[in-house]
Amino acid sequence: MNMISAQVAIVSGGSRGLGKAIVEKLILEGWKVATFSRHENGFISQYQNKYPDQFYWYELDLKDPRELSIFIKSVVVRFGGINLLVNNSAVLYQGLFLSTSLEAIDEMVLVNLLGPIKLTRACVRVMAKQKTSGSIINISSVGAIRGYRGTAVYSATKAGLDGFTRSLAGEMGKLNIRVNSIVPGLFDSKLSENVSDINREKIAKRTPLGRYAELKDILNVLSFLISPHGSFITGQSIVVDGGLIC
Ligand SMILES: NC(=O)c1ccc[n+]([C@@H]2O[C@H](COP(=O)([O-])OP(=O)(O)OC[C@H]3O[C@@H](n4cnc5c(N)ncnc54)[C@H](OP(=O)(O)O)[C@@H]3O)[C@@H](O)[C@H]2O)c1
Repeated sequence: MNMISAQVAIVSGGSRGLGKAIVEKLILEGWKVATFSRHENGFISQYQNKYPDQFYWYELDLKDPRELSIFIKSVVVRFGGINLLVNNSAVLYQGLFLSTSLEAIDEMVLVNLLGPIKLTRACVRVMAKQKTSGSIINISSVGAIRGYRGTAVYSATKAGLDGFTRSLAGEMGKLNIRVNSIVPGLFDSKLSENVSDINREKIAKRTPLGRYAELKDILNVLSFLISPHGSFITGQSIVVDGGLIC
């Protein structure tokens, strides 16, 4: 069995948005972080130069299971194991269901649901062999719980991810691997850039706390879940939306 000397995290989609913020936070806290995305950018090259022993990026499309398996093996060789997986990558093609293309449907299901399931399978196989505890955090969405026009397939993938969270937690408890979802409301990123100003205002107005989410709201919950304070929490979907869907 492996013993890992430093905490090792895999964060899918760590090149921008929430994934980037999670990578930055974990690196600051001393974690070794492996992440992937389809495209490299300035953030990736900056972190590769600044944290050569702590940060590892791989060019990978989550739809490619063969490459996923190569990536996981390379993380284990480089960092010695895996303690935390954050399933963060996702795509959103907004539009009414009747006009959603078959390609867009496939892409959302493959990237938002099948990809995370396959990535999780590869990671828990590594975690199960270690003597340490493990944690899996799935990034869901309020669309998993409440219906919003124009996001039927995206919402279905996120609801699927929450179901995966609950049932997997039941199996993984014996191995001391906790599985939870974080369920954010709207926050600013490339994924949400097509939400109109009018809709943003509406969302802020309908939110009891009067604004949409900031990255730090979500990071705080992630920190809690992976800290000793969250050590008896598994199988949960924690909504971080300022009360929007309450
Ligand atoms: N933004 C919101 O309002 C909001 C609200 C609720 C929940 N969420 C959830 O929060 C998470 C992060 O979203 P975000 O807003 O930060 O999104 P984002 O800014 O669009 O970032 C998505 C990340 O995923 C990567 N990615 C996309 N497709 C991929 C693929 N096929 N293979 C590998 N990586 C891929 C992207 O890199 P590449 O494009 O280079 O591959 C990028 O790094 C998602 O799960 C999203 O559903 C977002």
